[in-house]
Amino acid sequence: MERIATTQTRLTLGVMTLSAALVAPGAAIAQEATPTYSKDVAPIFREKCEACHRPGYIAPMSLQTYSESRPWARSIKNRVETQQMPPWHIDQSVGIQSFQNDRSLSREQRNTIIRWVDGGAPQGNPADMPPAAVFADDDVWNFADLYGGPPDLVIKSTPYTMLALTQDHWWKPEVPTGLTEDRWIRAIEIRPTTVAGRKITHHALARLQQEDEDLGAASDVGAGLLMEWAVGKQGEIMREGSGKLIKAGSSIVWDIHYSSAGEEVTDTVELGLYFYPKGQEPKHRQVLSAFSSLEGGSDNLSIPPNTVTATERFHVLKQNGRIENFQPHMHLRGKGMQITAVLPDGTNRVLSRVSNFSFNWHNNYVYDDDAAPLLPKGTVIAVKSWYDNTSANRANPDPDQWVGYGDRTVDEMGHAWVNVTYMDDEDFQAAVAERAERTATTDEDGE
Ligand code: HEC
Repeated sequence: MERIATTQTRLTLGVMTLSAALVAPGAAIAQEATPTYSKDVAPIFREKCEACHRPGYIAPMSLQTYSESRPWARSIKNRVETQQMPPWHIDQSVGIQSFQNDRSLSREQRNTIIRWVDGGAPQGNPADMPPAAVFADDDVWNFADLYGGPPDLVIKSTPYTMLALTQDHWWKPEVPTGLTEDRWIRAIEIRPTTVAGRKITHHALARLQQEDEDLGAASDVGAGLLMEWAVGKQGEIMREGSGKLIKAGSSIVWDIHYSSAGEEVTDTVELGLYFYPKGQEPKHRQVLSAFSSLEGGSDNLSIPPNTVTATERFHVLKQNGRIENFQPHMHLRGKGMQITAVLPDGTNRVLSRVSNFSFNWHNNYVYDDDAAPLLPKGTVIAVKSWYDNTSANRANPDPDQWVGYGDRTVDEMGHAWVNVTYMDDEDFQAAVAERAERTATTDEDGE
């Protein structure tokens, strides 16, 4: 689809250049090239915006029709041009660029929207409108068909009441899983329980809390995040042959970000877990690590007033592993984070960078199957974070404050949540060989 669109645009531009030579150039370009809402822009909104920008969901306005979108044209151009919307803050100039959950706009799509606004945001012919978008059903468990029934275990957060008008709140109840035996998780779904809950649930993290000695493969590890829910993301299926181990006596620590919706809403968020059947446990365990960026540890973080400050910390992989995702965590002064792998042969490989971090959006960037880096043991993971405590940072509540480490949003943090699937030498070599073979075949297909 996208490729066809590209070719058409190039063709049109070619024609334009010809006519531009004959008539006043500016006028000709503006007239002939202006995309219309119905034909060019609505398909992009359907695909990349409506999951949130539709009635009853987290975004402040719907973008499903021309009359709903037109009044926001200027704001849309601004947010799209500065790449704040859709909320996807990966730096597209460096590092891995293929993700399972990519919701960014292509350069082509960005240009189309900007040119549409610059050209007066015309509607065009309503007959050109694309069919309505189809969204995953919010009221069913989406993997139930795949696994032949609803989740094996459903855990609910304790109810929370969000007032009609108030600041954003973070709700962090701990709820026991009630499990009396260890199980392996193969898929996870999370969802706000009611329709009203969707208006206030910005995102929800479910963290696993359990006694666990068998995690020594990297430096800072915890039992880990099970999954983050955010609008447009219904669930997560573990990569083949891998899973998460959830233990007897474990509990879920929720971290739910609520925004007010103009009406009082009480809701819960529920987590559905699908287990591998007994006897079919996966070979590889995914472990979530918090790779800190804070040199010398948390106590050392010191961000003086009116400065930009950077810090970096190194972690050595004690076992071979596949890096599954990158989820930077900082607070209001957080500006950017980069994760780099320094391979045993000294090669430096930037995996990912976010350079316009926004505390509002705890995006989890999940690498595609063929892009998730396979790193041998002895690889050094370098995590760097930088903070803008000046007035240039619009999220900064007070540039005259000294900022140190802490839980409050006015304090700071610095770590990347990263799932690592650890493998012994034999499995690791096999994974590398299999990857090489698969990607070589794709190349021949012209990809
Ligand atoms: C994952 C959910 C999500 C997606 C996808 C998304 N938005 Fe948003 N959008 C929001 C939320 C929530 C806000 C309000 C909070 C904020 O600004 O971050 C917002 C705010 C905005 C605003 C600012 C509105 C104002 O008050 O001025 C614009 C404009 C906008 N979005 C346009 C878009 C466009 C265009 C797309 C698609 C290309 C898009 N958004 C995709 C959730 C989303």
